[in-house]
Amino acid sequence: MPRYTKTAMLLHWLVALLIITTFFLGLSMVAIPGFSPTKLKYFSWHKWMGVTVLLLAVLRVLWRVTHKPPPKLVSIPEWQHKIAEGMHHLLYLLIFAVPISGYLYSYAAGVPVVYLGIWQMPAPFAPDPELKATLKTLHYVLTMTMAASVVAHALAALKHHFIDRDVTLKRMLPL
Ligand code: HEM
Ligand code: HEM
Repeated sequence: MPRYTKTAMLLHWLVALLIITTFFLGLSMVAIPGFSPTKLKYFSWHKWMGVTVLLLAVLRVLWRVTHKPPPKLVSIPEWQHKIAEGMHHLLYLLIFAVPISGYLYSYAAGVPVVYLGIWQMPAPFAPDPELKATLKTLHYVLTMTMAASVVAHALAALKHHFIDRDVTLKRMLPL
């Protein structure tokens, strides 16, 4: 059975795990009232994990454009391939847009992003309260769009595995 390359699988599952963890960390950290050292620590971790997603996303796209995915399964109708491809494009877009919106929001709020506590990342612009409000909403909306898309994507993969009993999921698993 033709599969995705080991590197494509590794990047897919590593990015998926990081995104899901960063998402729930984001929800938990904003729910902590006031300011506390724990809250600040979670904000830093959230930003580091999100920036890591962005870096891995660059690697992932570079790998994807230089390595062909396995051929389409002939048992799946063309319209379903079209929907799956559309969803994959949307997910690729969001893997970039979600962390970039968080990054820009941090700078609009006047808080620098210090990756892993070591590297102060470049400031794209000066703090701006109006932009801050817009980017906060944008980060939220993009994040929730991503959550909904990931749920639909994962349910489709599980439907192929357990109901259609085809190899769609197996091709993304190293087993
Ligand atoms: C995969 C990447 C990311 C995901 C899935 C994600 C998800 C989230 C979620 C779910 C929230 C809570 C939203 C709310 O309930 O208000 C949040 C908030 C936040 N995120 Fe991210 N985020 C990501 C990347 C980043 C990055 C790279 C940064 C900055 C470098 C960042 C900065 C922030 C900040 C500052 C908040 C707090 C917003 C507030 O004050 O309410 N995020 N994020
Ligand atoms: C944050 C979570 C996830 C993201 C961002 C994501 C993103 C993607 C993307 C962009 C592709 C297209 C790969 C390509 O051909 O270039 C893909 C493929 C795939 N994903 Fe995910 N994924 C996530 C989680 C999951 C989960 C939880 C499952 C399973 C339950 C899953 C199963 C699959 C499968 C089976 C494929 C191959 C589809 C095919 O061959 O048509 N993914 N994923």
